[in-house]
Parts: sequence; C-alpha cells; structure tokens
Amino acid sequence: MNTKSIQELEDLIISYVYEMSWGQKWDGKPIPADVFKSYLSQVEKLSNLFTVDREQMGIRYFRKKENRIAYLLYFHLSNMVRASAIIEEMKKRKAWPKKIERVMDLGTGSGASLWALAQGISSPKQLPSLMYALDEDRSILNDGKKLWHQYCKMREITSPNLVSQKVDVLSLKGLEALEIQEKLDLIFCSNLVNEFSLISDSGKISLFKYLVDQLLSDDGALMIMEPASLDISRDLLHLREMLLDCLDIHISLPCSGTQSCPMISDAKDWCHFEIPWDIPRVKKRLEKELNRNSEVLKYSYIVIQKGQKKSKRRSKYRSLSPMLKNRDGGYFVLLCSDYDKLSLRSKKGDKESKQKLKNIQRGDVISLQNCHEDKLDDPKLGKQVWVGQDSKIVIHP
Ligand SMILES: C[S@@+](CC[C@H](N)C(=O)[O-])C[C@H]1O[C@@H](n2cnc3c(N)ncnc32)[C@H](O)[C@@H]1O
Repeated sequence: MNTKSIQELEDLIISYVYEMSWGQKWDGKPIPADVFKSYLSQVEKLSNLFTVDREQMGIRYFRKKENRIAYLLYFHLSNMVRASAIIEEMKKRKAWPKKIERVMDLGTGSGASLWALAQGISSPKQLPSLMYALDEDRSILNDGKKLWHQYCKMREITSPNLVSQKVDVLSLKGLEALEIQEKLDLIFCSNLVNEFSLISDSGKISLFKYLVDQLLSDDGALMIMEPASLDISRDLLHLREMLLDCLDIHISLPCSGTQSCPMISDAKDWCHFEIPWDIPRVKKRLEKELNRNSEVLKYSYIVIQKGQKKSKRRSKYRSLSPMLKNRDGGYFVLLCSDYDKLSLRSKKGDKESKQKLKNIQRGDVISLQNCHEDKLDDPKLGKQVWVGQDSKIVIHP
C-alpha cells in the first residue's frame, strides 16, 4: 500500500477536529488533558450507541457535532484500514475491476472507503475520474468533503470530480435523480447495511438489484463491509443468500461461487476476517482509557460481481480461524469452501502436523493434498479432515 502513514493521517484528522470543536489551529503538541477528556466522553457515548445502546441509535446520529468528532477520531481510520484490506484481497484474488473510472460510496460518512481506495494507489493516474459520495446526513458529508480535499492536498494529488450528495439510498428515487449516465466500476457499501435493521428484506433486495442491474458495469464490483459480530455477520450471510437467489450475480469474495453458504444452517456459525495495524497515538490513548485494544481489526464482508459463474467442485478452502487447541489435546483450523465447512485436524502429539496447521492464518486461501477425510463428523467441529505426515497444505499468496 502506498500509504501516508497512519500517524500522519491521524494528525490530519486531529487538526480538522480541533478547528471543528474549538475553532483553533492545533499546534501539533499532545492534546491537553481537558480536551482529551471531552473527546473521550464523546467517543465512549458513540461507541456505546453502535453496540450496547444500539436500540437508542436513531438514524440521524451524525447531526450531533460530538458524534461526528467521535467518529472521525475513533472510527474513520480503522474503517479505512479494514476497507483497504478488502481492496488488497480483491486485487490479489482477481476480483478487482480492470479499470476504475467511476466509483460510488453509499453511506459514505466521512469517506473512509474513499480514503482506502486512494491509499491503495501508487500513482494519481490510478484514481477514478468521478466519485459519488452519498449519505443521508448533510453534516457528515460536509466534513467528509472538506477532509477529502485536505487529504488530497497532503498527498499532493488532484482530487477526482467528487459529487458529494445528500441521498437516502433506500429511496431509489434519490439514486435515480443522480442521472448516472455511465456505469460504475466500484460501489462501496461499508458499515451501512446494519443500519437498515428496520428495512424489510424486499427493500434491501430492491436496493441491491437496482445497484447491480442499473449502476454497476459488467466488470464492476460491489463491496459490502460490515462489523464483525455474530448477529451482524450472520445478517450479512442471510443477505448473501437472498441476493444470490434474486439477482444475476456471483460472490467473488471471501468465498467464490453462486452456492448457498455452508454456515447458514447453524445459528452459531459465522465468519469474519482480521487485519493487524499500527494504532495511531490518540486512538491508542483513547483505547487505553476505554480499556479496549484494536491491534487487530475485525470485519465481515462480501464482494459481488455480475453474472453467475459456473461453479467448480471445491479445490480451495478459506480458513475461518487460526490454529486452535481441541479438547482431546490435538489441534484444528476451521475451514469452509463453497459446499462444506470442516475442521482440519492434527492428532495429539503429532508435532509435524501441528506445525503445518500453525502456518495457517485466519482468512488464508489454502488447498489440501493427501489429507484424509473422516467418515464420522465430530459433534462440535463437524466434518473432519486429518493432516498426516504425507499431507501438504498449500497457502495461496
Ligand atoms: C457507520 S457509518 C459508516 C460510514 C462509512 N461508510 C464508514 O465505513 O466509515 C453509516 C453511514 O451511513 C449513513 N446512512 C444510514 N442510512 C442511510 C441511508 N438510508 N441513506 C444514506 N446514508 C445512510 C449514515 O448517515 C452514516 O454516515
């Protein structure tokens, strides 16, 4: 990633937030204790609103300046890093459109996904020529727009044509009114769908059908990123199923195919991914006070592309966990393919096989050679595949 370091980006945000909250220029020195205390309380409140106090959230939380400040300080960069991780995966796994000319970010907020896109480019020529940043909240759109221009200035890049527009994306009329003439190569939908909790399934399907059929180019990709939690990640799995049923699409990541997810049937199953990062200074200080630690950022996601791919019988698996210890003293890694979920296991005391499992990280794409499928399923771990001396685990870069 051709990055401005995370710390430089945090400094940019602090300067912005300082002006926004105190009408003063930040002198670059550590934030004074009283100012920090007020930020901390705002972050704590917003954080709770997104989690434990979710029922009180309401849709217009960004109308309050305090919530926008808290989002910028605490969530913007971590969401940028999550979106960057997915972008890198899309590039690696051939799910990246051949050209990126026109991009849309739905529920853009402060524009974390657009920053992620820009972080991933090595030359300004790789930026799209047109970007739509859409949100139903005018205030966060304004912040996002101003910050985007400051970001471009810092990186010495010329901003693409940025259409920053107040739109309720659930009203298709709002999207139609944009009168988009040329189709979009990339559509981001980050941390938005979980805010549609009051919207019916058919409402969600209508939105994504419109996006795919009317707005997405043939080679384009639609990325849906969501927080990682059992409920939200399973909601994303359900959305995946519905969209596969109703739209002419395939899922290109994190698992390829047009098949139903093998985890859908068990209410305890879910999948998520992780990315380590260097937590910038102020975020670290906030986390310390809040007794949290985000050294590894978690997220769930799917990438949708047009057309149904012919499905091949499984040859590759996605790991859903790092190596874990089993009750019987052996070790296992959870895997899934288009058709199966299974546990890849080593026997107690088999150090060589344990080492093979240890090399696997959550999210790796792997193939198996000479591993032996058990006839019996384990009640907890499901279908079991054993690693032995002659087994080979190929981790695809
Ligand atoms: C949690 S923020 C995510 C912001 C950004 N995408 C990110 O990942 O950091 C969700 C955003 O979606 C916006 N939003 C929620 N419902 C919306 C709707 N129906 N139409 C447009 N924007 C919406 C909110 O205003 C908010 O800015």
